[in-house]
Amino acid sequence: MKKWLKRFGALVGVLVLAAGAYALYVQITGIPKYPPGKIELKVEVTPERVARGKKFATLLCATCHMNPTTRQLTGKQMIDAPAEFGTIFSKNITRHPQKGIGAWTDGELAYLLRTGVRRDGQYLPPYMVKLPHLSDEDLFSIIAFLRSDDPLVQAADVDPPGVTKATFLTKMLSHTVFRALPYPPEKIVAPAITDQAAFGRYLVAGLDCFACHSADFKTMNVFEPEKSQGYLGGGNLLNDLHGGQLRSANLTADEETGIGKWSEGDFRRALKAGFRPDNKVVRYPMVPMPELTDEEVNAIYAYLRTVPKIHNAVQRIDDAIADGDDGKKVYYKYGCVSCHGSTGVGLADLRQAVLHYPSEDQLKAWIRNAPSLKPGTKMPAWEGIIAENEYGPLMTYVRQLGAN
Ligand code: HEC
Ligand code: HEC
Ligand code: HEC
Repeated sequence: MKKWLKRFGALVGVLVLAAGAYALYVQITGIPKYPPGKIELKVEVTPERVARGKKFATLLCATCHMNPTTRQLTGKQMIDAPAEFGTIFSKNITRHPQKGIGAWTDGELAYLLRTGVRRDGQYLPPYMVKLPHLSDEDLFSIIAFLRSDDPLVQAADVDPPGVTKATFLTKMLSHTVFRALPYPPEKIVAPAITDQAAFGRYLVAGLDCFACHSADFKTMNVFEPEKSQGYLGGGNLLNDLHGGQLRSANLTADEETGIGKWSEGDFRRALKAGFRPDNKVVRYPMVPMPELTDEEVNAIYAYLRTVPKIHNAVQRIDDAIADGDDGKKVYYKYGCVSCHGSTGVGLADLRQAVLHYPSEDQLKAWIRNAPSLKPGTKMPAWEGIIAENEYGPLMTYVRQLGAN
């Protein structure tokens, strides 16, 4: 008996040592590197590609890379990245040769966007997006846009506000479950937009709707989206920009718990203008997508009608109604806090609103209907939603955020 115990003790000792050695190895090597990809690619830049690329970049890259203050793709802190992953900063991806990606080749960019492996071989964990489903044409369009003279990507000589510090957990997971994706062996072609449901499916996969809108990131299937647990049935718990959490919505056509009762018009309004049929704003990290054409939105809608219904009543987590002054209450009640954070800086920065809209009338006109003043903006139009007598206190509060 004693001998047995001794042996057992020795075995445990060996295991503990091995685990310790492995932990040390993970800690020292950090997030793994892979052999860098060697892709022969020269993307021909055409005005059509630049325009299409801008659309996909504002849909797919801007939420993470747009700095709210510089208003260019110069990088920022990812406040909503899971804290267990560490302190995460996105990068400057403007055309600047040193601080941005001006010196990257087209092949290096394509390889990173498909696989998650940078040109020096460094693997980037899931806090940087990967695009295994996007067609070659759409991917090349993004690259063409990144080379363009568009103000969003004009060479900016600035560093992001910090450098990513990954936790041990992120390093550990990057040695085990997170993996670089393979570079697609064949050309990826999008279905024709006239093939509505197929094109809708293409957008749902390509724009990553399914990742947020299925049950959990941990059980999603990157390559075969339909095999993700609770495919498009919602409930995935996500972080917001002011320390809280919210759950994604059920997008299946279930009549009671999904969007089965929504008309095509309801769906278009939610997606492009940012309001649900009950006039509640669709909150960050879901942001309005005015870039999508009606035809594209209708294709997504048509596809969602073909997806197996899931009966899943997602509990909406409302933002706490702030106490304190009346303006702050309005700011929280309508969800301004969702995009502008509790400090005025989130997805967008409104601390300089007073400079941009010096008079009450100008500020009010912007809040009422920003898209009519700046077509394509992601700031929703609040006309008919915010009560007339609430504008005064709200604007006072907005100005006060700027003064702080
Ligand atoms: C979910 C957030 C997120 C999205 C969406 C996203 N990125 Fe990133 N990206 C990051 C983060 C965070 C990093 C830095 C990772 C790190 O520091 O390890 C990064 C790094 C990069 C890098 C590497 C830059 C360098 O100098 O190392 C490039 C290039 C890049 N992203 C391009 C893009 C493009 C193009 C898109 C849109 C197709 C995009 N990203 C979408 C978060 C994101
Ligand atoms: C980064 C995660 C994320 C991505 C990507 C995303 N969504 Fe969402 N979406 C959410 C969250 C979270 C909500 C719930 C917002 C709320 O409660 O205010 C939501 C809400 C919605 C709603 C409103 C539904 C309702 O019942 O309130 C629709 C419609 C929708 N998303 C469609 C889409 C489509 C289509 C795509 C892809 C083009 C997409 N989403 C991409 C996270 C995401
Ligand atoms: C879905 C996200 C979202 C929500 C919700 C939202 N905003 Fe915005 N807001 C933006 C974006 C994005 C911008 C930057 C717009 C641009 O320049 O294109 C912006 C810009 C602004 C500006 C102008 C800032 C400047 O200096 O140019 C003000 C003021 C503003 N928002 C106020 C509000 C108020 C008040 C609310 C609530 C009633 C609100 N926003 C809700 C996304 C949002």
